[in-house]
Amino acid sequence: MADVIDSGTLLRERYGVDADDESLCLDESGTIRGLLAHRSVRAFDGRPVDPAIVDTLVTAAQSASTSSNLQSWSVVVVRDKTHKSAVAMLAGDQEFIREAPLFLVFVADWARGAAISRSRGEAAEGIGYFDSTLVATIDAAIAAQNAIVAAEALGLGAVFVGAVRNRPDELSALLGLPDASYPVVGVAVGWPHTARPARVKPRLPQSVVRHDERYASASASDLARYDEALRRFNESQGRTGSWLDAVVARVRSRSALHGRERLRGILSSRGLPSA
Ligand SMILES: Cc1cc2nc3c(=O)[nH]c(=O)nc-3n(C[C@H](O)[C@H](O)[C@H](O)COP(=O)(O)O)c2cc1C
Repeated sequence: MADVIDSGTLLRERYGVDADDESLCLDESGTIRGLLAHRSVRAFDGRPVDPAIVDTLVTAAQSASTSSNLQSWSVVVVRDKTHKSAVAMLAGDQEFIREAPLFLVFVADWARGAAISRSRGEAAEGIGYFDSTLVATIDAAIAAQNAIVAAEALGLGAVFVGAVRNRPDELSALLGLPDASYPVVGVAVGWPHTARPARVKPRLPQSVVRHDERYASASASDLARYDEALRRFNESQGRTGSWLDAVVARVRSRSALHGRERLRGILSSRGLPSA
């Protein structure tokens, strides 16, 4: 349980090294401990997730801030095994989606806004601009993060699934998503498999991501230090791999986008031209 871990351990696990420079203020409610102890869970024990928990996760998601209170997002709750398997196939064919009893698809959704405007004889021209796509996408993403935080607070495990954007046209058809909406991110949720526990994955040192007053480029030695910490972490998980290599591989060519290079065109065909 996160609340019995001392702050030194929390920091060490979060950065993969002794983090002497970072201080930590912990709150009584355990919220910060919970955030720091986050780890993606991709192994579930098969127990179902109670309907009251699903309601709670959606309420937590709806409690996130939302741009101008427009609430331009929706969530599709997928629990049916056959349906979930079809969704998994379109989301990178990742087995843990089938294993998870619950899969939430967070959707950027201007369909409601468009319908409200149409009912008043208004054109809804503004939906076609890039910022409107961003507004709905950011709303959907932070709603999803709230759902994950709530799930973890209840002892569940969860993992984001960006692969819902690999084949968003087909997934939208499968989920019955209307025009002016698209799947932003999925969240697989379930009870963590105790025999296959997930561990906290180290993050970059603060010196790399934090810029006081003005931006400063990351030092090669700080990046190398992190690469080494992540390599040790990967080894402890029976994996090999360098973070620096992964960054290069991800941006080297369009093939690493797994179909997402088509996203702008697909959004356009779905009524979100993002001009
Ligand atoms: C937007 C987003 C999309 C992601 N998509 C996937 C995915 O499709 N499959 C997967 O296994 N993990 C996915 N992840 C999980 C990341 O791989 C994970 O958060 C990262 O490796 C850090 O590990 P941690 O969450 O355990 O700290 C995604 C995370 C985010 C934020």
